[in-house]
Amino acid sequence: MTRSILVTSALPYANGAIHLGHLLEHIQTDIWVRFQKLCGNRCIYVCADDTHGTGTMLNAEQAGLAPEALIEAMREEHIRDFAGFGIEYDNYHSTHSEENRALSELIFARLKDQGLIHTEEVAQLHDPERRMFLADRFVKGECPRCGAADQYGDNCDACGATYDATELGNPRSLVSSAKPLVKRSEHYFFDLPPFTEMLQDWTNSSAVQPEVSNKLAEWLDGGLKSWDISRDAPYFGFLIPGTEDKYFYVWMDAPIGYMASFKHLADRRESLDFDAFWNAGAEANTELHHFIGKDIVNFHHLFWPAVLEAAGFRKPTRIHTHGFITVDGVKMSKSRGTFIKASTYLEHLNPECLRYYYATKLNGTIDDYDINLEDFVQRVNSDLVGKVVNIASRCAGIINNQFDGELAASLEDEALWRQFADTRAQMADWYEAGQVSRVMREVVALADLANQYITKHAPWKLVKQADRRGQAQAVCSQGLNLFRILAIYLTPALPGMCKAAADFLGARPFAWADLGQPLLGAKINPYQPLFTRMQKKDVDNLVEASKEAPEADGAAAANGADEAVSIEDFNKIKLKVARVAAAAPVADADKLLRLTLDTGDGQRQVLAGISSAYRPEDLADRLVVVVANLAPRKMRFGVSEGMVLAAGPGGEDIFLLSPDSGAKPGMDVR
Ligand code: MSP
Ligand code: ZN
Repeated sequence: MTRSILVTSALPYANGAIHLGHLLEHIQTDIWVRFQKLCGNRCIYVCADDTHGTGTMLNAEQAGLAPEALIEAMREEHIRDFAGFGIEYDNYHSTHSEENRALSELIFARLKDQGLIHTEEVAQLHDPERRMFLADRFVKGECPRCGAADQYGDNCDACGATYDATELGNPRSLVSSAKPLVKRSEHYFFDLPPFTEMLQDWTNSSAVQPEVSNKLAEWLDGGLKSWDISRDAPYFGFLIPGTEDKYFYVWMDAPIGYMASFKHLADRRESLDFDAFWNAGAEANTELHHFIGKDIVNFHHLFWPAVLEAAGFRKPTRIHTHGFITVDGVKMSKSRGTFIKASTYLEHLNPECLRYYYATKLNGTIDDYDINLEDFVQRVNSDLVGKVVNIASRCAGIINNQFDGELAASLEDEALWRQFADTRAQMADWYEAGQVSRVMREVVALADLANQYITKHAPWKLVKQADRRGQAQAVCSQGLNLFRILAIYLTPALPGMCKAAADFLGARPFAWADLGQPLLGAKINPYQPLFTRMQKKDVDNLVEASKEAPEADGAAAANGADEAVSIEDFNKIKLKVARVAAAAPVADADKLLRLTLDTGDGQRQVLAGISSAYRPEDLADRLVVVVANLAPRKMRFGVSEGMVLAAGPGGEDIFLLSPDSGAKPGMDVR
């Protein structure tokens, strides 16, 4: 029976670039979706950007853009990145859409009608200067347990304590550097506790991986609390109906974004019926699958099913949770060059190499996956080029050059062909369960058998003996038929290579059902190499290109001045005295301070990597030396128009250079 399946990947935040971690998730999802389609199931894959929150608002402000313009630009970038990796959505929408607004309001209204919404006063840190409440990541102070300085509002890096931001000692706002004050305001809450029993059942059903159920049991046994679903203005999001300054918390409307993206598609595609996929009871006829990372299980396994049930919608059929990516054993790191963005990757390597490498890892568990860069190159070259594609390249020439591209009319070794084809039920089970690594391993093992078969029969020798030419054709046809089976198995993981393989075999795009019969007596096309070897040097270049200098500006003075510069070169650099008119931390950039400099002829903004050594309040009015004619640099946090000079190795040891007090802003430094 054909299944009707709706599939989603977690919605990437609109405030950052797509990187290897997102790619793991979307490649995993895309493989699963392509497998379903290959089997003839109806499978719809939707996603969107997750756009709301204070972060978007502040980023847009810093970039001098309207939030709508910022998120639209990011959405286009994300779509381009994912397309580069062959990820095929039916729709890639935005949570800042009319569909999402309407659905969020509808769901809220239904929750309210059921008496599941109440309000409560909440005390939170508030930035008096910017007049905004501060989320935990926008405030720092001293840990209430161990006293460590510079800790965020939710937990301490030094001792691991978790606490409420209001407990921080000497808190400061990262948005303005003002001292935040505790302020109370009314919040909206969704009553989660009544859903405890339902969630206990549901999280122990086949919808949830056992390791995840165990984790969730801790929360469920500890007793669920009501969930705070509102945020105060200013906020970029949807206004809560009936209020003037309360917005839906980003995590309230984000999962509704799954529905909204589907709605947007269904409104345009005649054959899709929104209700058939989402209404309560839809479980009987359609499936809903979410792919997510393990950091967001509470939202997807507790809040989301409760919200769906309460609002009269269906619950997910299955949530596929994965672990995190590490590179060479450690978290992705900007300074090591292993925080690799999708767009940088595409400038250096074939996307299908990554698809294959991920495919060899995916095992349906929540364990982390390590990308070992040596192993990456090795795996791709030895498995794909050395084994799988090798089968085709060994057989194609003889068929094309000696037999006018015609395959033999029968199989030379039917039993061997059956052995390959008969694993298809097992392969399908593995794909279905997300155990893609097992499929890949089996393909490589079968490729070994195919190559042994070819070596044993040595068709290149047979073809030179007049009475055994037919034998040579039969052996190569057999080889190509074995290759064809492997290419069908690989299609979900390597759609590009396998499309080329289908073209070469003169076949229409592969289908899983093609595994039922061999390709006999058919004409094949000229052979073009299906995959090129990976070069380690391309990987090295990718890592090099991904290296980001620690976010330092003036502080990171070059110390190995081994190359002499001429006086003419030196004179090109205009150094001037400037006065710090204002200094503020930069949200999300730990090391940066945003300096507003008075340069005599006006003001300019410089982003300086000196916050490990200077507190913004200590800098006001101080004189500094600035490189005045440095080309402006666009950073994620805004444009930096120059550089302040400083000495020292970094960390707490950064020393701003400054003229004596008689100097005036605008004076040349020589
Ligand atoms: N916007 C939320 C999801 C809302 S879903 C209604 C979010 N966005 S995210 O951009 O931070 O992450 C998107 C997905 O990428 C999540 O499933 C997350 O687990 C995954 N990954 C982000 N970094 C990752 C790794 N380093 N490794 C593997 N996956 C990771 O969360
Ligand atoms: Zn601490």
